Amino acid sequence: EKTIIKDKLDRPLRDLRISVIDRCNFRCQYCMPADQFGDDFEFLPKSALLTYEEIERVAKAFVSVGVEKIRLTGGEPLLRRDLPILVKKLSEIDGLKDIALTTNGVLLPKLADKLKEAGLKRVNISLDTLNDELFGTINGRGVGTQPVLDGIEAAKKAGLKVKINMVVKKGLNDSEIIPMADFCLKNGFELRFIEYMDVGSSNGWKLDDVITKKQIYNILKEHYQLESLDPAYFGEVAKLYNYTNTDVNVGFISSVSESFCSSCTRSRLSANGQIFTCLFNGNGHDIRNFMRNGATDEELRNRITDIWNGRNDRYSDERTEETAKNRKKIEMSYIGG
Ligand code: GTP
Ligand code: 5AD
Ligand code: SF4
Ligand code: SF4
Repeated sequence: EKTIIKDKLDRPLRDLRISVIDRCNFRCQYCMPADQFGDDFEFLPKSALLTYEEIERVAKAFVSVGVEKIRLTGGEPLLRRDLPILVKKLSEIDGLKDIALTTNGVLLPKLADKLKEAGLKRVNISLDTLNDELFGTINGRGVGTQPVLDGIEAAKKAGLKVKINMVVKKGLNDSEIIPMADFCLKNGFELRFIEYMDVGSSNGWKLDDVITKKQIYNILKEHYQLESLDPAYFGEVAKLYNYTNTDVNVGFISSVSESFCSSCTRSRLSANGQIFTCLFNGNGHDIRNFMRNGATDEELRNRITDIWNGRNDRYSDERTEETAKNRKKIEMSYIGG
């Protein structure tokens, strides 16, 4: 049976974002800048990672207290060996309505069919520009756009629903707003423009680097006719618009300029089994050792309930230049965005 639990601000628990690995084959400058995630960076050892059996167990406990949607993230989740096995396990959980994956797309040509077969419905693929040189600079590895475009194509062919995520940073890729919009509209992909956020403490974020939803919207309006859409469900992250007379939508994730904490139903599980109640709250709650020390299913479920009941995070509502600089925050690659 399913119980509904609420946090201190009366928000239900609906989504679980599971990071399956903290490594990535890219070094995007807004996420894992190469100078700070170098050859000597200590990633989690394999023994620290939750096994697929453990992830399945935690996921079931979360579903029993209201989670309907699970998203797999990383780092780059497709670097975790045999990910389709995990997808299969999760897709068999009763009461789960949606399983999705956020990826840089590079490994999709190899994995899209297997993921689809395992029960995955959709993927969100990150792509910040169509310009090869600029993309190589942004991803910190000099990789051009083709591997990602191939990944997008493979996902589409496999029958996965594809959304594209574009982080917009002033002076870096704002010139790519219209080319990306054109590309996605033409191919029928929902593009979401993401405001550059102060995640972690290594990307050197400044408020001045942010291009806001409103600014992007105004640029789009010069080229397309857009109609505002109502949220499809409580707590939807992106604000969506429809390109008039098409069946294609475009969205904005405005965590900085128009925060959406009051409807935030998301919990996060790091690859080493810590539960986080906000993308910006570095205080994780261990669940791995709790399980490895013999907790029962009921104890596990009670612990999740206690953690959620105690939650009062609303970081994006409170964000200032000061909090951006001075709070201890977890890296995006560790908690999966
Ligand atoms: P859909 O289910 O397709 O709507 O996915 P999503 O947008 O929730 O997930 P995705 O992994 O594609 O994330 C897109 C962007 O939204 C990333 O930059 C995330 O960090 C950001 N994001 C997702 N959830 C939250 C949140 O609760 N708070 C903030 N501040 N950002 C979030
Ligand atoms: N600000 C906004 N979005 C970010 N992402 C990674 N780092 C940041 C940041 N600093 C995005 C990725 C991916 C998603 C999981 O989070 O581009 O699409
Ligand atoms: Fe890797 Fe995604 Fe972070 Fe880029 S944004 S470094 S692809 S995890
Ligand atoms: Fe949720 Fe924290 Fe993001 Fe606000 S900042 S929407 S509380 S994860």
